[in-house]
Amino acid sequence: MEIIIQPTVEAASTIAAQMVARLLREKPDAVLGLATGSTPLLLYHELVQMKLDWSRVTAFNLDEYVGLAPDHPASYHRFMWENLFNRVNILESNVHIPDGLTEDIPGFCLRYEQQILAAGGIDLQLLGIGTDGHIGFNEPTSSLASRTRIKTLTQQTRAHNARFFGGETAVPHHVITMGTGTIMEARQVLLMAFGPDKARALAEAVEGPITSMNPASILQLHPVAKIVLDEPAASRLRKADYYRWVYDNKPDWQKL
Ligand code: PGA
Repeated sequence: MEIIIQPTVEAASTIAAQMVARLLREKPDAVLGLATGSTPLLLYHELVQMKLDWSRVTAFNLDEYVGLAPDHPASYHRFMWENLFNRVNILESNVHIPDGLTEDIPGFCLRYEQQILAAGGIDLQLLGIGTDGHIGFNEPTSSLASRTRIKTLTQQTRAHNARFFGGETAVPHHVITMGTGTIMEARQVLLMAFGPDKARALAEAVEGPITSMNPASILQLHPVAKIVLDEPAASRLRKADYYRWVYDNKPDWQKL
């Protein structure tokens, strides 16, 4: 794992945006795995400002709430179109987001996996991390080999996301999410975490044992996992000074 600690969310998001931009320049038909939530907002803003060519890019989103229509204000469809897809030249036919209204969830999930494979696999998967260590919506005790499927959210996650629904009771109980096995097949993963609320889960994921109690810890087994943090999210890392030293002493050409 490469741990990159930055002073601010802005600086960390700029580094993440440079990583995505570099991939799109080197591979204009890249397949991106995308994430939602507060964490990637500034990253998407920066990517829009960069005016990159998205005309050959394919995107697969991690997850969606079961029961929410695409135009629901808290749906991840709406989030992605408002914050990124409507603002770049991606083709609608190249956008894939789990369908929260499907009447055949197992069939939909199987097809989603097949579509990822047919696209050639995901080149770069963006990830946030939940306060309970989830990636995508793979909550603690999710199988670390899991594939795209339905999951039940923890109460902790429902409480964390209540701000998007005007209260906890309106937060759906179920979601469709790529599995940790699906995520681990991406060629690169880029996890971002900001703020003190993420510090404990992040430290356990990076420096603790690999355990389904913290699904993000599976990333220790990924050959190309980059973790971009602000200082508060990094505050519980025991080896933070070492990570800073490594990054500060990398040759410039290696920094991304
Ligand atoms: P957040 O969510 O970016 O809104 O904190 C992260 C996550 O749940 O993965």
